[in-house]
Amino acid sequence: MVLNLTYVNGKKYRVVYRLILVERFIIKGGRTLSGRVSISGAKNSALKLMAASLLSGSETTIRNVPMIEDVYTMVEVLKTMGVKVSIDTTGKTLKIHPGSIKSQEAPYEMVRKMRASVLVTGPLLARFGRARVAIPGGCNIGSRGIDLHLKGFEVLGAKYGIEHGYINCSTENKMGHGRLKGADINLDFPSRGATENLMMAAALAHGRTTITNAAREPEIADLAGFLNRMGACISGAGTDTITIEGVETLHGAEYEVMPDSIEAGTFIAAASICGNGVIIENAVRHNLEVFYLKLKEIGVNIDAANENTIRVDRPEADYRPINVSTLPYPGFPTDLQPVITVLLTLVQGVSIVTENVFENRFMYVDELNRMGANIKIEGHHAVVKGVRKLSGAPVRAFDLRAGAAVVLAGLAAEGTTEVSDIYHIQRGYENFDLKLKGLGADISMTG
Ligand code: EPZ
Repeated sequence: MVLNLTYVNGKKYRVVYRLILVERFIIKGGRTLSGRVSISGAKNSALKLMAASLLSGSETTIRNVPMIEDVYTMVEVLKTMGVKVSIDTTGKTLKIHPGSIKSQEAPYEMVRKMRASVLVTGPLLARFGRARVAIPGGCNIGSRGIDLHLKGFEVLGAKYGIEHGYINCSTENKMGHGRLKGADINLDFPSRGATENLMMAAALAHGRTTITNAAREPEIADLAGFLNRMGACISGAGTDTITIEGVETLHGAEYEVMPDSIEAGTFIAAASICGNGVIIENAVRHNLEVFYLKLKEIGVNIDAANENTIRVDRPEADYRPINVSTLPYPGFPTDLQPVITVLLTLVQGVSIVTENVFENRFMYVDELNRMGANIKIEGHHAVVKGVRKLSGAPVRAFDLRAGAAVVLAGLAAEGTTEVSDIYHIQRGYENFDLKLKGLGADISMTG
């Protein structure tokens, strides 16, 4: 446990960092995966529900929360503001009571660690009329701007300034603390974060807000479901036009996080690479439609036993090369781009993977080429020439999904693969190594 002291508004806060040892995964490849794996709650929904809890003065209970580093970081963000949070790691439940909130600031140390912290801005602005949030900055996969968030807040009547790396947002007007005013917002790009931040801000605004060209991911509908359970009046979430009728106050609620479709896709990809008889439970088929269809195009022996269970068996014929381009939902998910590329490295012929969402999401390709893959980057395309086999090697996890990709490559490779910087993976996959071990993989963690 590493304690660090930080100051917010001149007050001293104890910021607790869990000691993340320099841990690595050691993988002995060549095993065939089989058996059942159950998918955890969605990271990219749970973090937003936690931020949304700030909109109420009473307690919220969130169930099916994945116990992952990013959730612990968001807990620290809330606690730094004085919010009471209790975690039941066994029951995968959070109880959040914002009644005791003292500050409306998200410090740089937290936001730098996890950009999703910026999603407390909308709730703080809506409930308290002010928010001071560190600018998240970029990460390994791209610049990750927040201009669409800020433009939307302005349309809702807020003012903001940037000073010393922080965004200071306020609805203060001449008469003192004002209230956001409903308005029509059109997003230049269907940004998930902007859609979520603005939907939360509009929930307590005066009057109606419409968000057009909104992001349509299933996690957006999950957040709207939670907000409506708290007393909000939101319709259209999951489509490109969301309507929010602002209300005066929101109350606490209980809610269960939806299953993580990206974790499901990661295990489906692992099973497609080296599985036979793998059953992925809580894999909601319609949240993965395009991914599922692309695997079928490759020739993966995949079947949806029912809406929430997917089975993958050994292929009946050689896999076929394909072209795949990432797009905002319902297009092919950018978060599954690295793992489908691993699958394609072993498919004879030439496949082309195009990344349209982030500007730098091929960092893992050099690691795969060290394992014997034959991938050439041309702009935002990866040209993948299939090889007969991969061979184990020491590799790095550059970010969450890139880390999962090199682990999957290690499962397929001959010999031993050592993956370092696995804290990236632990940010977003709950018990990733244990779940793979449960399917028969030879994977262990070492400090
Ligand atoms: C969410 O990020 C996810 N993160 C990402 O998952 C995911 O890859 C991404 O959506 C796309 O699906 C969480 O939900 C915590 P965006 P977010 O706003 O909200 C640009 C993972 O591995 N943009 O849709 O940041 C931005 O730079 C992570 O779990 C602006 O330019 O995604 C990016 O290129 C990685 N200005 C693109 O849009 C803005 O104001 C997509 O961003 C907002 C976004």
